[in-house]
Amino acid sequence: MSKKDAIIISKLPEHIAIIMDGNGRWAQEQGQDRLFGHLHGVESVRNIVEGAAELGIHYLTLYAFSTENWDRPQYEVIGLMELLVDTIKKEVPSLNKNNIRLHVIGATDMMPAHAQSELQIAIADTAQNTGLNLIMALSYSSRWEIVEAAKKIAADTLSGNIQLDQINQDLFSQYLSTAKFPDPELMIRTSGEHRISNFLLYQSAYTELYFTSTRWPDFRKENLYEAILDFQSRERRFGKTGAQIQENK
Ligand code: IPE
Ligand code: IPE
Ligand code: MG
Repeated sequence: MSKKDAIIISKLPEHIAIIMDGNGRWAQEQGQDRLFGHLHGVESVRNIVEGAAELGIHYLTLYAFSTENWDRPQYEVIGLMELLVDTIKKEVPSLNKNNIRLHVIGATDMMPAHAQSELQIAIADTAQNTGLNLIMALSYSSRWEIVEAAKKIAADTLSGNIQLDQINQDLFSQYLSTAKFPDPELMIRTSGEHRISNFLLYQSAYTELYFTSTRWPDFRKENLYEAILDFQSRERRFGKTGAQIQENK
């Protein structure tokens, strides 16, 4: 029996975020180059995007490249960029077939010009889709995003577009690159590391965290179902007591 059958569809998280980690070690453990791991990681992306769409998840954010990843050896950065652009380009027909809309968050102006234009084409070509929203975090870091939001709010305040007393948590969220998306209820990190690595820091204030030792190239739909089942077994209290949560059920 697939773990899928045990998932309560009415209690699905609306937004799942994944830190896809462990490609390099997965490859090195087999005596292969790190890029071999990234290549196999693409297969996991396909499988998980398909799995999330089949379940009816509305938002899936995948952390594919952090701002800090620019500091990796040049050959790995170049290889990863080529793979990312190539994959996104090739996947557009299947995104359209499955009604999946692509979004990108991050400092994409740091990416090579051809990569930026391929991304823009893929975003525009899938803009009419109404099913799963697939959000790729590319050249993304949360501190970068928060500082950018603060700068824009400061500029809008100085120019009189907004008043100081209008600045609250809702307005702040509207200045983040995730303004159009709800906060993730579930965040998964593969490969056995227990950290957030600068991902969605503001948005994950009350996100349930799920860590698995499975390396990203080995992560498949069944692993996703397992994470969702774990999520569904938890009590989300948002600062209240367990008794209060039970009363309001
Ligand atoms: C995740 O795998 C992919 C990226 C960060 C681009 P890693 O490349 O970080 O793999 P490990 O963590 O070194 O095994
Ligand atoms: C986080 O993985 C970034 C992505 C998965 C894209 P890293 O491998 O870069 O994170 P650290 O360096 O181990 O924290
Ligand atoms: Mg890593």
